[in-house]
Parts: sequence; structure tokens; C-alpha cells
Amino acid sequence: MASEEFSGNYMEKHTTAVAVVDFSPGGIREARRPGNGIFEFVTDNGVLMRMQLVAEGIVRFRFTPEGRFEDDFSYAIDPAFRGELPAHELIEFADGYALKTGRLSVRIARQGLKTTITDTVSGKILCQDEKGFHWEDNKIFGGEVVKMAKVCQNGEYFYGLGDKSCDLNLRGRKFELWGSDTYAYGRDTDPLYKNVPFYLSLCRGLCYGIFFDNTFRTGFDFGNDKPNVTSFKAQGGEMDYYFIHGETPLEIVQRYTRLTGMAEMPPLWALGYHQCKWSYYPEATVRNITRGFRQRKIPCDAIYLDIDYMDGYRCFTWDAERFPDPKKMVSELEAEGFKTVAIIDPGLKIDPNYPAWVEGIDRNYFCRRQDGALAKGSVWPGLCHFPDFTRPDVREWWATLFKDLIGETGVRGIWNDMNEPAVFEEGTFPHDVRHDYDGHPCSHRKAHNIYGMQMVRATRQGLKLWGKGRRAFSITRSAYAGTQRFACAWTGDNVASWEHLNMANTQCQRLATSGMSFIGSDIGGFIETPTPELYLRWVQLAVFHPFFRTHSSGDHGEQEPWSFGEDTTDWVRRAIEMRYHLLPTIYTAFWQYVSEGTPMLRSLPLVDHQNPDAYWRSAEFFFGDHLYVVPIMAEGEEGRFLYLPKGDWFAYHDDSRPKAVATDIWIECPIDRIPVFVRGGAVVPHWPLQQHVGEIANPEPELRAWWKNGKETSRWYEDEGDGEQWKEEVYRDSTILLEGEEGRVAISREWKGSWTPGYESVEVSFCGIGSAEAELVVSVDGAERAALRGDDGRYRVKVPRDFRKVEMVWVPVEVEVANAGRERSNVE
Ligand code: NOJ
Repeated sequence: MASEEFSGNYMEKHTTAVAVVDFSPGGIREARRPGNGIFEFVTDNGVLMRMQLVAEGIVRFRFTPEGRFEDDFSYAIDPAFRGELPAHELIEFADGYALKTGRLSVRIARQGLKTTITDTVSGKILCQDEKGFHWEDNKIFGGEVVKMAKVCQNGEYFYGLGDKSCDLNLRGRKFELWGSDTYAYGRDTDPLYKNVPFYLSLCRGLCYGIFFDNTFRTGFDFGNDKPNVTSFKAQGGEMDYYFIHGETPLEIVQRYTRLTGMAEMPPLWALGYHQCKWSYYPEATVRNITRGFRQRKIPCDAIYLDIDYMDGYRCFTWDAERFPDPKKMVSELEAEGFKTVAIIDPGLKIDPNYPAWVEGIDRNYFCRRQDGALAKGSVWPGLCHFPDFTRPDVREWWATLFKDLIGETGVRGIWNDMNEPAVFEEGTFPHDVRHDYDGHPCSHRKAHNIYGMQMVRATRQGLKLWGKGRRAFSITRSAYAGTQRFACAWTGDNVASWEHLNMANTQCQRLATSGMSFIGSDIGGFIETPTPELYLRWVQLAVFHPFFRTHSSGDHGEQEPWSFGEDTTDWVRRAIEMRYHLLPTIYTAFWQYVSEGTPMLRSLPLVDHQNPDAYWRSAEFFFGDHLYVVPIMAEGEEGRFLYLPKGDWFAYHDDSRPKAVATDIWIECPIDRIPVFVRGGAVVPHWPLQQHVGEIANPEPELRAWWKNGKETSRWYEDEGDGEQWKEEVYRDSTILLEGEEGRVAISREWKGSWTPGYESVEVSFCGIGSAEAELVVSVDGAERAALRGDDGRYRVKVPRDFRKVEMVWVPVEVEVANAGRERSNVE
């Protein structure tokens, strides 16, 4: 659904008979080189284009018809980003110019400034302008509606763009980015809460990304209006975009993520299970819930307080009747292994007896309208004023407001809600609200899409300021590109339906593709009540979502893991237990995301990008390097077809091997099972079960290695789970190489970092070897050890913490074809 605010209709409504006229650049009259890797072209009708080689594989393009650029300022680009310039040269041709690097050729046409970007290795065109840059004068607001049109190639498909709720592949659709409070949104609702103007293109194995760094209301069209045109445009600002190349889609996501900033390591408890509801109050209810987890032995690490903990919805206050002694409650919960997370909204109630508001008004920290009046809007507490989070001094002040909540009371995480910003009747602020934009004053038209991001940036400052050296954990509903530096995110007010479960799957994958891996949905649905089966299948999917939280609006029914009958409670417990066993693996994937920008959830088309069969698939995804998740997302489904990429795979639950790799493999998926496959040769770290992170002081890890005839590399990251020392390399980042051949398998390990784990030994288990009892010899760093074969067919051996190499050699025994007779499924 495109907004009429773009060009034509909107203009016509607000003026009398203004015809929309698009202008295009003329011919190049001047070319100059103002800096290393920077080239400028001026056309005879005054358009200025700047092309800047930013780093290997990243080229930035800026255009303005005004002849000069505004100050170069972006909230998205990480100030810490440093790119190394590859060798390059600019060559002039009769019909234009070409920038050449070892890998790319960027041609700029002398007439019209159209670009053609070619992969010099394959000789194929990656991305080519159709109409290229063009614009429309914005006579209502000033400036221009800036537009870019590119050729949409045959067989070209698109991914990314933040939280869109449709299937993964965006080809044939169009979208807008304008952060919106979309209660009970549906599959085609657009725009949604988040604004991430980054997309990825895949075309017959070649790939590139585009990041359009413009915070105005933006539109993207992937061959919808015209099947052969991909376009993007914005209601103001500059045409300022980055072309990002990489050998693989994952490399492109890594480069985009580096550019817009890396997330930091979360506290380990934040990767456990979280329980939330609107709202748990009074204190007795909160305690009842946390007790419920421990009594039923369902692991849980965090309990949430929604707006009803506050005094009349005033942020930074407590309702003294419902929570008479919050500090005591929070510390007792903490002693039982529960971290308390509290919600905060941007609007502060207009109330002369409310200190936060008084301070804000006295210091002139609230947003004002164009003519100087304070901007007002109704939210939960009634009429509110809203801090201008685009001012550094306001962000600093906001951070101080958390002194009591975080510093004194001990709340461990902050949940930032309604930060699109949402305002009840009007939806959001009027266009004319003024913002400082960090010294670049502007209207809300420009600041809307980054308002929420700047709020969570300020909140994070508060977590750092009062958090006593702990890692910051905060959650956001709204976001702009780069918000991963400040917060984790959830997908907003979804509904308890099977369709929404499917949407949660694609939204989380898509956000991970868009640089925001720390993501989850409200498990079970926020609105309405899930059936037991839906709740269970949702938990099972979310075991593999980095942010793992049940949340519901509460007025529809109970939504705790035990609210759906005894059987479901057992199955849900089992799923959550799986999460806790896999915590070291999830933490490792998080580390790869933090250190390399690699998405934790990897959509199938991004990994199997040479295979067009994968391009339209949305359901299956990779978690980290080696787990392949096949979620069950339909009622009554006890088996399904799946696509299994090339490679060696084992079913995670019983080490059985699929008979084939193809698009139509049938698997059974009984109600208590999450179909997950492990790559042959993978070494996957596990932990013993805990009811919460830290319950066991130094959990002894198990490294599960799956058989492969060949080599495979795995990672295993460990650190102290909180605190900032990981930034000083106080961690252990192991790279594990598995090598297997007939009758022998070995894993060898090297690590980086200075951390020494507190446990003494590690259990190594070899899975999927088959029957090999005869003359088995295991050696650990050269010394012989005993290995036990369990009923599950796995060989286990205890090794010292600092082992370097474990090797198992055997004389194979003659066996019947494994699992003969179990023919009914394609998975043995
Ligand atoms: C809207 C949020 O999306 C939801 O998660 C929250 O429970 C309510 N606001 C109340 O704070």
C-alpha cells in the first residue's frame, strides 16, 4: 500500500493543479577529485554527483540538484567505521567515466549521470540505472522528492528492508518506510514500526546490496509499478545511497552491518527465556509467576514489568500500592535467578508535580512546533510532552533519569515502547514539529524515522551510566538503520494466529538480513489467545530467535508456558530446555554477529544463493553456521516437505541422515519436535540444563561433533557472560577443525583471547559415526582415553578444559545398511 503522500496525489490535494514534473541531470560539464577515492561530477543543469569509494566493495553515491551538498551527517553510519580503500583508478571515456577497482567497474554516463556497475570477474552487470537519479521539486515543503530508478533484471530477487511482514522475497512489491504504530498489523500492512532502508539483490548467483541513507518517508518499488524497474525515493533530503558488493549475500550483510555499526555482546542471561505480559501487577502476581517457573522447572531468566508498574503511567515512577518496595522485590527476584526488565515510553505526562516533566520543561528539552509552542500528544498517561532525543544534551539528561530504576532499584533491562513515536489520535507527531538533529535543525518529516533510534541510544547511555559496568540490555519497537548498536528489537503488536507465526518467522529473518539480528516476536501473539498447539509451535520457532520472549496483552487470557494444559506444558518445557542446552551455540552465533556482522538467522536464499530453487523459500533458515531450522507453522501439521540444501545433514534429535538433498523431502514432525538439522562435520557446543543462566557456576560444556568424511570448521565462543572485558579480548574464541575419513575422526582446536573458563573438563561426543565398537582407540592430545558408547549411539569422552586435539580411530565392523526398514520417511 503506497502512501499518497508521494508526489502526484498529495501535491494535487494541497495545491491547485500542480503537475508533477520530474527533472533529470543533464550532461557532465566538470569532473573533479576532491579527495582520495572521491569523485565529483557537475552537470550543465547544476546537478552535483559525488561518488565515493568507501571501502572494499562499498561505493557511495550522492546527488543534489542544488549544486552543493548539505553537511555530511548520518545517524546510521557508525562513527567508528573505518574502511580501507582498495586500489582504484578513474578512467575517462568518450561517453563518460569509469571507476575501476580490482572487483568492480562503475561506469557513469556523460549524459544523465546514469551508472552501470559490473562485476569485473564474471563480466556481468550487477546493477544498472534505468532512469537513474531524477527529482521533483517539493513546492509544499521545500527541497526535492529525490528518486532513483534502476533496471530490475530478469531473475533478480530482493530481500531485506527491515520488518516487512510479507514473504521474504520482495520482487513485485512496493513498500514505504515511515515508522508506524500498527496494532494488530497484517501480512500486507505497510509501513510497520521499523525503518531500515537496506535491501539485498540476488540474481543468478550474483548479488549486491543498496543502503539508501535517507530518513524522510521513503518508498521502495521492486518491479511493482513497472516490472523491469526497481526504484527508491524519499520525500526530501538527498539521494544518498551505498552500493555494497560481496562474493556472497552474507558478505554483503556483513559489510552493511560494519558500515552501520556492530552490536555489542549482550549479557548472557538476555539470551535465556523471558516472560512478559501487559501487565504483571501487583508484586504478588509477579512473584506468583516467577515461582510458577521454578516450581514447574521451566527455565526462565527475565520477568517484565509493563506500564502498570508506574504511578499513573509516569515514566521513572513506581505505583507505591502495587509495588511498595521495588528494590527489595527486584533483588529477591534476582536471587532466584530472574532479571527484572521495565518498560519506558517517550512521552512524559504534563504534570507540575512530576519531577521528570518539571525538569524537562525547565531545561527546555521537549519538542516544539514550528511556531514555538510545545508539541503535545496523548499517550497512556494523558497529554504528554516528548523529549527531543536528537539533542545530545537531552540524551544525556534522559540517561540520568534511570538513576533510580537501574542504579538504585536494580532493574537490569529497559524496554523502549511507543517510540515511532506513537500518539493516540493522530498516530504520530505533526510534520512541523522541530528537532535539533544533532545540530542540523529540521522538521519531523526528517526526524520521524530516527526518533525511536535516538531514544534507545539515550536509554542505552542510561544503562551504561547506572549499570555498574554491566552490559546494556534494552529493547526497541522502532528503529532506523544502525539501531543494532543500541538495542535489541521485537516485532510489535502481532496476533495469535498461524499466519502471524509465519510472519514472525519471515520478519525475524528479514531483520537479521537488515543488520538487526537481536530480534524476536511476541511468542504466542500479543493480541488474542493462541491454541495450545499454536503456542507450542511458536515457542519451538522462537527457540531459534535471538530474543526469546512470550508477551501478550493479557486481557485475552493467560499466556504462561503452563497455561495450555499439562501435555503442552511438558512440550513447551522441553523446547525451552533445548534453548538452554544450546546457549553456548547461540552465544557463539552472537559473537560472530558482533565481531564480523554475520547475521545470526540466515535465510536460505542468502546461504544457498547459487541455487534459484531457494530464492522464493521463506520458511527454512540457518541458525549460525551449522543448524538448519525447519519450523512447523501450520495447524495439525505432523509432517511437511522441506528443502534441504546440498551437503551432509543429520537430524538433530536422533542423528539420522536424510536420504537425499532436494526440494521435496518429507519429514515427520510430531508435536513435541522441532525439526532441526545439523551439518555433517559440525561441532556444536552445549551446556547442561540450568533453570537460569548462572544457576550452575561453571557449567561443564559438551562439544557434540557430527560425522563427516572430509573437513568442517566450527566456532565456539566463551566469556564471563557480562561486563565489558570482552572488549579487551578477555574471552576464548575457539576455532575447531573436524577431519574425518573412513575409520578415523579428529577434532583439533585453536583459540584466541585471554580468558580461562572456570570448568575443569569438557565432554566431547561423536555423533553419527554408526556402529564402531571394534577396536576403538581414542586419544586426547596424544594420550589414550576411554570412550563410552551411549544408547544413543554417540561416543563420549571426557577431555581436559584446554585440550587441543581429540582423535578417534576404529576398525569398522561390518554392519547391515543402517536403519534399513524405516522407509516411510525420507529422513532415516
Ligand atoms: C504497546 C506495545 O507494543 C506492547 O508490547 C505493550 O504491552 C503496550 N504498548 C503497553 O505498554
